[in-house]
Amino acid sequence: MKYGKISTKIVISTKIIIWRSYLELEKIVDPIQLFKDWLSEAEEKEIRDPNAMQLATVSKDGMPSVRTVLLKDIIDGDFVFYTNYQSRKSREITQTGKGAICFYWKSLNRQVRLIGNLKKVSDEVSDKYYQSRSKGSQIGAWASKQSRELESREFLMQQVKLLEKKYNDDIPRPSFWGGFALKPIEFEFWEDGDFRLHDRFILKPTDVKNEWIAKRHYP
Ligand SMILES: Cc1cc2nc3c(=O)[nH]c(=O)nc-3n(C[C@H](O)[C@H](O)[C@H](O)COP(=O)(O)O)c2cc1C
Repeated sequence: MKYGKISTKIVISTKIIIWRSYLELEKIVDPIQLFKDWLSEAEEKEIRDPNAMQLATVSKDGMPSVRTVLLKDIIDGDFVFYTNYQSRKSREITQTGKGAICFYWKSLNRQVRLIGNLKKVSDEVSDKYYQSRSKGSQIGAWASKQSRELESREFLMQQVKLLEKKYNDDIPRPSFWGGFALKPIEFEFWEDGDFRLHDRFILKPTDVKNEWIAKRHYP
């Protein structure tokens, strides 16, 4: 299914052309496929990191925090990224099981937002991704006590040197590093419109598996 822009031109007769939304026409759409279509357009146009997304988490007393991570896979409709399991984000994810993601592609003037439930991916999935990384990145995962205080940059670089000596080519994945998967319970697709009259569609699942309903919202 090709979406291109949300709006689709429908030729009713040779003289009358009506602009209506493809999503509005169909009502039920596959947000994962629509997201993949938009991401592949972003991959062609963005200068760098089209897979960069803002990940918001919340502490157990309700304080939000946000940072950028990279989307590395979509597995069975879940959005997967990798990180240090002892970082702030991981602590908050473990405490609440909830998160939000936002992609903004400047080159396309599009935004996609998701909210959902998060859980760790299996060890097998994390191992496979870890082994696909460069040796430097594998060592980096071991060296970084992410989100904790670091006394100096020199200390970190010394740790990297020590780890490089310790490990040859076969570097095991640290147990404190791996993936999380966000299972979306709501999507929002947003596209820039003239005079700030942007197009927004909220998609929520129906009771039928893999079926979503789209509603247009005011900009
Ligand atoms: C473009 C970009 C991509 C990033 N990708 C990741 C990533 O995939 N995983 C990660 O743990 N941190 C990534 N970071 C660093 C995070 O933004 C953040 O600094 C780090 O994960 C610590 O966050 P926390 O203390 O809130 O847990 C990235 C930063 C940028 C700017």
